[in-house]
Amino acid sequence: MSRPLGVLPETRAERAARESRFTLDDFQSEDEPMRTCLELARAAARTDLPLLILGETGTGKTILAHALHNSSGRAKSPFVAFNAAALSDTLIDSQLFGHEKGAFTGADRRLKGKFELADGGTLFVDEIADMSLSAQAKILRAVEYGEFERLGSEALLQADVRLISATHHPITRFLADDQFRRDLFYRVSGITLRLPPLRQRPNDMRALIVSEVERACAEQGKVITAVAGAALERLLAHPWPGNLRELKRVIQTAVALTEGRKIEPEVLLLENLAPDPETGDHHIPGAIPGEDLSLRAAEQRHIQAVLQRVGGNKRRAARALGLSRSTLDRKLAELGRSH
Ligand SMILES: Nc1ncnc2c1ncn2[C@@H]1O[C@H](COP(=O)(O)OP(=O)(O)O)[C@@H](O)[C@H]1O
Ligand SMILES: [Mg+2]
Repeated sequence: MSRPLGVLPETRAERAARESRFTLDDFQSEDEPMRTCLELARAAARTDLPLLILGETGTGKTILAHALHNSSGRAKSPFVAFNAAALSDTLIDSQLFGHEKGAFTGADRRLKGKFELADGGTLFVDEIADMSLSAQAKILRAVEYGEFERLGSEALLQADVRLISATHHPITRFLADDQFRRDLFYRVSGITLRLPPLRQRPNDMRALIVSEVERACAEQGKVITAVAGAALERLLAHPWPGNLRELKRVIQTAVALTEGRKIEPEVLLLENLAPDPETGDHHIPGAIPGEDLSLRAAEQRHIQAVLQRVGGNKRRAARALGLSRSTLDRKLAELGRSH
C-alpha cells in the first residue's frame, strides 16, 4: 500500500473497460475453494462446453464470465451479456431473439437479438434462474437446436454461440421447487463453477483490501499509505454478505472519508445485514432504541432485511412481504429518496 499513486484518477467507465479485458490469469487466490474454482475455470475455458457459474451476489460471477470468454478460443469474437432479472417475458423474447419492424406496438425498427449478436462468440445469460418458466422453455429451444426466430418473423435463424449462465440462487432448491427447468439445467451446466463467498477466502482478504484501497485512491486522486490495525481487524471479522461488491463500496467510502494517510476504523461503514449463523436471525442495521422508532422507519428496515434475505430478488421480496410488486417498487423509491 506504499506504492506512490501519482496516477490519473480512473473513471468508472474506465474501470468497467479494464475489468472487461480481464483474463483468467488476472485471478489469483490463496484459498482452497477459490483455487479449485479457478483451476476448473482454466480447464473449462479450453472447452466449448456451456458453463454455469454459481455464487452469492457480488462474488464476481460477471467478471469471471468475461474472463472465461477472454481466455477461450472465442476471445476475438463478441461477448454479449444479457441480464434476465426484472424483464418481462416479451422483453426477454425480443432482447434474446430480436424482432422485426412492426412485430408489436412500439417495434418501429428491426432489432437483432443477443443470440444473433453473439454469433461466433459467447452469450452470457446473467440471473438465468430469474427467468419465467416459459422464457426458460424458449431459451432451451434456442440452445438445444441453435435455432430461433425473430419476433414477427417465421424465418429460422441460426447462431453459433457458447453459453455461459450465472445465478445467485440456490439452484438445487430451485430445481426441487420446479422454479428452474431440469432440462434447461442439464443443457446449460456442462461445467458448473462455484465462486466461494468472501468469508470463505480469509487468506485473500488482505490482498483484496490493499488492491481496493489502491484502486479507490487512483479513482479519487488520493494518497493513502496504511490501514490501521484495528481497521484491518474489523474488515477481517466482517461477514461480507455482499461479497466483493460490498468490499469495494466499503473501501471506496472509507477512502473518501479519510483525510490523512491512514484508514482508521471509524471510517468503515460496515452494516451487519447477514443472518446470524447460529440463530438465522437478521440483525437490523440502525435498529437501536432511541433512534428513529417510527413505524415507517421500521418498515423500511424490514424491507431492506427481506430484500437482503432473498438476495435482492424483488419478486420474491414482494411475495414474502405480502405486497404487490408495484407497491414494493414505490416503497423502494421512497427509501431511495430518504437516503
Ligand atoms: N477477482 C476480483 N478482484 C477484484 N474485484 C472483483 C473481483 N471479482 C469481482 N470483483 C468486483 O466485485 C464486484 C462484483 O463483481 P460481479 O462480477 O459483478 O459479481 P456478481 O456478478 O457475482 O454479482 C464488481 O464491482 C467487481 O469489480
Ligand atoms: Mg453479476
